[in-house]
Amino acid sequence: MEFLVRARAAPVKASKLLSSVGKGRGVEYLADIVRNALFVSKGHRENVSVTLVFERSSDFSRILRISGSDLGSFVDLHEKAILDYIAEALRLAEKFEKNEEIENPGGVFVTAKSFEAYFDERKQSSNPYLLDQKGEDIRCVEVSQDSIFVMSDHTPMPKNSKKSLINSGIRRISVGPKMLHTSQCIAVVLNELDRRSDISS
Ligand SMILES: C[S@@+](CC[C@H](N)C(=O)[O-])C[C@H]1O[C@@H](n2cnc3c(N)ncnc32)[C@H](O)[C@@H]1O
Repeated sequence: MEFLVRARAAPVKASKLLSSVGKGRGVEYLADIVRNALFVSKGHRENVSVTLVFERSSDFSRILRISGSDLGSFVDLHEKAILDYIAEALRLAEKFEKNEEIENPGGVFVTAKSFEAYFDERKQSSNPYLLDQKGEDIRCVEVSQDSIFVMSDHTPMPKNSKKSLINSGIRRISVGPKMLHTSQCIAVVLNELDRRSDISS
């Protein structure tokens, strides 16, 4: 199961990412997203990965996927520790050409490609869902282990992208009537699935 989060205002450059903390750009939310997707009290979720798309770039977006099945180097879960971990991974990809990628043993995959290109690849082998307040209630939707949940961060999904996702037939699911933070949506989705079965463990 994968959470794919498009972060339109998040810089691809590690130093810029870290210097944006506390400057109103919302990069701190990325730490909440990672924490809620991958960690439980005294453990982590082996079957979940979280993918962040950094789109503030002078060349290509960078895509960072962290897999719960392969987490080795997380020591602390506070905001700074998680943002440092993300920055370290982005540094690996600073000089990347388009479509270059690397998977390191700490459980991180990084590539230089667009949200659309990545999603098109992943949807071949996954069941895609778009998290959308106006979608079907998640409580009425069967969700399989190979699902990919697409969402934006605090910056809205561009209208054209949303339209093309919907035109591609993606199923829209809602986690309730209130607009939540991305990290809260992830926690609700995982809780919903925890209560249903063990597919989110
Ligand atoms: C913080 S919200 C985005 C807020 C942004 N200002 C906007 O208008 O799109 C981040 C993402 O969480 C998801 N989301 C928030 N509340 C939701 C809900 N009740 N049901 C389903 N998805 C939700 C949507 O995917 C949304 O793009």
